[in-house]
Amino acid sequence: MEKMFGELGLRIASPYLRLGVESSSKACNYYPTKVLRAFHSALPRLDQKRAVSSEPTAVRPATESNTIIKKVTAPFLASKKRHGQKVTMVTAYDYPSALHVDRAGIDVLLVGDSCAMVELGYETTQPITMEEMLHHCKAVHRGANRALLVGDMPLGSYEVDDREALRNAYRFIKEAGMDAVKVEGGSKARAQTVCKIVEGGVAVMGHVGLLPQAISVIGGFRAQGRTAVRAREILDEAMRLQDAGAFAIVVECVPAPVAKAIEDTLEIPTIGIGAGPFTTGQVLVYHDMLGMTSHPHHQHFVPKFCKKYARVGDAITQGLAQFKQDVEASTFPGTEFSPYNMSQPEEELFLKYLERDASERELLHLETAERMKNADEYEALNLYGYTNGNNK
Ligand code: KIV
Repeated sequence: MEKMFGELGLRIASPYLRLGVESSSKACNYYPTKVLRAFHSALPRLDQKRAVSSEPTAVRPATESNTIIKKVTAPFLASKKRHGQKVTMVTAYDYPSALHVDRAGIDVLLVGDSCAMVELGYETTQPITMEEMLHHCKAVHRGANRALLVGDMPLGSYEVDDREALRNAYRFIKEAGMDAVKVEGGSKARAQTVCKIVEGGVAVMGHVGLLPQAISVIGGFRAQGRTAVRAREILDEAMRLQDAGAFAIVVECVPAPVAKAIEDTLEIPTIGIGAGPFTTGQVLVYHDMLGMTSHPHHQHFVPKFCKKYARVGDAITQGLAQFKQDVEASTFPGTEFSPYNMSQPEEELFLKYLERDASERELLHLETAERMKNADEYEALNLYGYTNGNNK
C-alpha cells in the first residue's frame, strides 16, 4: 500500500507531527494515520451531498455512476465522514430488534455487551460470556441484511493474549456472521491487540472514554476526560487505535470539546454516546432510546444523555394489562378472534359421537376431578401444614 502511495507521489501530514506527539504504536502501524489520509485523498471524489443519501432506505446511491450500496461497509462509513455525512449506530440483541434497526436504515448495528444489562438483567456488562454474545449475534445476523454488523468482544475474550483475541474475533465472523468486532480501551497493549486482529483480516471498532467493562477499575459508570490531562490521554488512545488499524471509534461519556478534538484529529469516523454533537456519528442503546426498560429495575440504568424516542415499555405494559383484563372478563376471544369453523354436517356428526360415549366420559371426568382435588389438598398440606378450609 505504501508503495502505491509512493507511486502516486502523495504528500501527507501525520496528526502526530501536528500535535507534537510521538506515535506510540510504531510496532503495529497497520494503517498509519498518514497512509489513511493519503488513501482518502487518492479516492475519486464523490458527488458530495447527493452521493451519500441519509434517506432511511434499504439501498443508497453511492457514487457518481450511481452504484447501489446494498450492504454498509467500513469504507462506506469513512466516505460518509469525508463528505460531512452523519453515521448512525444502534444496538440490537435478537432477531426482532435486528429487523427493526436494519429496516430503519441505521448504518451500523452493534450487538453490544450492554446485552448483559438490558437483555439478561445483570447490573454491569462484565458477566456476559463469549458463548452468550455469539448466541445473540447469530440471531441478529438472521434479522439484518444491510447494516454493518459489529459484535462486541466481551470482557476476558481479548485481553489475555493476542492469539486468543484473534481466535475469538474469528468466532464472531465465522460462527455468528458479524462483519467486525469492537474492543474497549486504547492502551499500547490494546492497540497491539487491535493490530493483530486487523492483520488477521477482521475489521475492528475501537472504544475510548468510559469503558464499561473496566467498571471495577474506574469504580462506576461516570464521565471520563474531565481533566485536561485525562482528556489528552483519551485523545492519544484514540490516535493509537487508528494507527493500529481500527476503522471507527466509539467515544463514550466525555465532554463535547474532547470528542470534538478526537473527531478533528482522526481520519476514521468517531461515533459518540454521551459525547456531544461533534462526532461523525451517534450511537444509542436500543432499549434506552425506545423506552423499553420501563420496569423499575431498569429505570436506574437509563443514562441521562439518552433521548427517548418512544415509550415501548409503557405500550407493552398496557397491552399485557388489557389482555389480562379481557381474558378475566371473558371478552377475549369473542367471535372476531375465533376464526376456525366447522361445517354444519360435521358439527352435527361430532355431537352424535359425543352422545354415544357421554356416560363413559362423565365417569372419567368425575374420577379425574376427584384425583385432582386430592392432589390439591395434599399440596396444600405439604406447603402450609393444613388442607383447604381445614386448619390442622
Ligand atoms: O455495549 C454497548 O452497547 C456499547 C455502546 C454503548 C457503544 O458498547
